[in-house]
Amino acid sequence: MKISQLIIAVCALLFALTAVSAQTPPSDATLTANPVFQKSCAKCHGKTAEGRHFGRPSLISEKTAATSADNLRNIIANGKGRMPKYASKLTSEEIDTLVQQIKAQQIKALNKK
Ligand code: HEC
Repeated sequence: MKISQLIIAVCALLFALTAVSAQTPPSDATLTANPVFQKSCAKCHGKTAEGRHFGRPSLISEKTAATSADNLRNIIANGKGRMPKYASKLTSEEIDTLVQQIKAQQIKALNKK
């Protein structure tokens, strides 16, 4: 009886742990480690998100840092200038994650100065 209770307890614990790790969003994942970024955004904004020539801006700039999360979400969802819109290509969760990761990148970049 005791051993079977122990087994049940261990199984419950393992189950809880896998459930937690499956639910945790990739919060420690950086923008450049996000496969959505590398697939959809890196071709213009660069693999390091520092931008590329021909008017594709850095996403780690003071300009982007000064842009609110709401505006960033809006630019990604609805596009801006030559920036394509992603509302129909990405889920709102994916866009939210990108916004959070862009903001996190900026904090890191600004701390470096
Ligand atoms: C076809 C090239 C291209 C792709 C692909 C692209 N962008 Fe852009 N992006 C641009 C250009 C060009 C601008 C500048 C728009 C303007 O200000 O007129 C821009 C601007 C932005 C801005 C605003 C920056 C600021 O400081 O105002 C954000 C945020 C952004 N892009 C995020 C993304 C994300 C996230 C993705 C991937 C889902 C992505 N972009 C994909 C070309 C692109």
